[in-house]
Amino acid sequence: MRNLSQVLDLIASFSNKNPFPASPPALYEPCAYILTLGGKRLRPALVLMGHELFEDNVEIALSAAWAVELFHNFSLMHDDIMDAAPLRRGQPTVHHKWNTTTAILSGDVMLIFAYRFLASMEDADTALRLIRIFNRVATEVCEGQQMDVDFETQPKVSIPKYLQMIELKTAVLLGGALEMGAVCAKASETDARHLYEFGRLAGVAFQIQDDLLDTYGDPAKFGKQVGGDILQNKKTLLVLKALETAPTADCNELLDWMKTGAENPDEKVAAVRAIFDRNAIPELVSREKRRFQQEAFQHLEAIQVPEDRKAILRKTVADLLEREQ
Ligand code: IPE
Ligand code: IPE
Ligand code: MG
Ligand code: MG
Ligand code: MG
Repeated sequence: MRNLSQVLDLIASFSNKNPFPASPPALYEPCAYILTLGGKRLRPALVLMGHELFEDNVEIALSAAWAVELFHNFSLMHDDIMDAAPLRRGQPTVHHKWNTTTAILSGDVMLIFAYRFLASMEDADTALRLIRIFNRVATEVCEGQQMDVDFETQPKVSIPKYLQMIELKTAVLLGGALEMGAVCAKASETDARHLYEFGRLAGVAFQIQDDLLDTYGDPAKFGKQVGGDILQNKKTLLVLKALETAPTADCNELLDWMKTGAENPDEKVAAVRAIFDRNAIPELVSREKRRFQQEAFQHLEAIQVPEDRKAILRKTVADLLEREQ
């Protein structure tokens, strides 16, 4: 069994062997740029670990794994435009370093390269099955992204609606990555389903952690602008839990802040964070995260493979849900 760093080495060497074309540079340099900033490479690692639960020859899943990482990076390039984000992985976002039209087209071509890698798989039957999973979750990611943007200007968003939104924008891709690994390894449908559910529920917890870090992360480690969600008036679980549980005066103050722009960013972030702090919102949100985490791991337990095969995946996902970046 490979450990996480061996899996990441395989992915890095595949990516080095498959660079973007050199020309036109204005199209491809931003693609190479966002990929050289690294990131955790969680999703391709999940494809390979999902595969390795069932069999050792994970090399055959590498192009599928890389396709998922390219899709993720495409979604980040466009997400950063949509969220007016200045920083990604500790460096300027593509639309800040270049401009928005560049970030749109470079993102588009990354998505097309994702399909090229899927279509390059030798086993045509497996490739078709993977493309179907990929199309299903990629559509859902776009649906979740639209809901996220819609919620910014909707006065009332329920917690179930929020959970549906993060399931779509984030969690299904983690589930889909694991499911794709299972399909590459020709696992049973029941096991592939449990693996998908494991990733989906862990993915909900992963996005809740992302919401927490966006307000409470250490700027030196997080790599994104801390407070970005507050400035963008995102309906994160922190906001929704505060509106559900805080006294009326705090709710009204929060709602007033969410009607303002980002003219005084530091003041706005500090004031909203103070409302969360005095209502113990991070603790409530962490509890919700743990609920999904526990349910997720039950699906990993249900998969019919020897225990020692599950150890790396279990540890990788558990560590990820405590991540600081
Ligand atoms: C960021 O994903 C987008 C979310 C779904 C929260 P990651 O936190 O996996 O980002 P990288 O790829 O490691 O930078
Ligand atoms: C983004 O969610 C999910 C996708 C990119 C599809 P966020 O907007 O919270 O991700 P970050 O925080 O910018 O990485
Ligand atoms: Mg964002
Ligand atoms: Mg976003
Ligand atoms: Mg975020």
